[in-house]
Amino acid sequence: MDEKEMKVIELQDVKKIYEVGAEKVYALNGVNMSVERGEFVAIMGPSGSGKSTLLNLIGCLDRPTEGKVYINGIDTSELSGRELTELRRDTIGFVFQQYNLIPTLTAFENVELPMIFKNVAKHEREKRAEELLNLVGLGKELQRKPRELSGGQQQRVAIARALANEPSILLCDEPTGNLDTKSGRQVMETISDLNRRGVTIVLVTHDPSTAAFAGRTVRITDGRLI
Ligand SMILES: Nc1ncnc2c1ncn2[C@@H]1O[C@H](COP(=O)(O)OP(=O)(O)O)[C@@H](O)[C@H]1O
Ligand SMILES: [Mg+2]
Repeated sequence: MDEKEMKVIELQDVKKIYEVGAEKVYALNGVNMSVERGEFVAIMGPSGSGKSTLLNLIGCLDRPTEGKVYINGIDTSELSGRELTELRRDTIGFVFQQYNLIPTLTAFENVELPMIFKNVAKHEREKRAEELLNLVGLGKELQRKPRELSGGQQQRVAIARALANEPSILLCDEPTGNLDTKSGRQVMETISDLNRRGVTIVLVTHDPSTAAFAGRTVRITDGRLI
């Protein structure tokens, strides 16, 4: 593999400017970074420093105002909205601070849902949903609704759901932000285990003990990496 192929994420001079009335907010002000296949990178910085904006651009949930975002060597600025959605669905999994599970569905059904959207056959998606929930340590909680699970268990369901379409990149925005120390550690152990299985991880946090699980930490302040 040459150097270019090993880079799964590359940002070149990325800026994100929000216009709020007459005011311009430079949420990202010239960010360059790259992540290699199989890495586990933590992005640390204070509240308002641009962490979520950065993760959303890496995850193709949004486009930069200036600069380029490459995913697996693909220049995402050249993709149509539909192509960008497909790239995101097939390559990237997201985990958010608020879990974002569907309250009326069981753990099993929440994990199955992305595979229904992708037209995966029933037998295959049921098998995979069960495997993923076993992988995150929730083999006994398949039929529980989110409100019947602890915060840490809900976050592990969210991780299993993020893996449903077999993403090569998992993006986590403050995944332990709502959890007590012990549940947070269990969630981080689950994420580390996925990294050991080959998933590239980019995780945003303001908590040093969460960042300590990563192989490398980059710091952001006022929209710039330091
Ligand atoms: N949709 C938006 N519109 C206007 N300003 C925004 C928007 N999203 C974020 N910002 C601003 O951009 C900056 C970075 O925000 P964010 O990326 O959410 O930071 P963090 O995740 O590090 O707390 C902040 O000043 C925030 O107020
Ligand atoms: Mg944030």
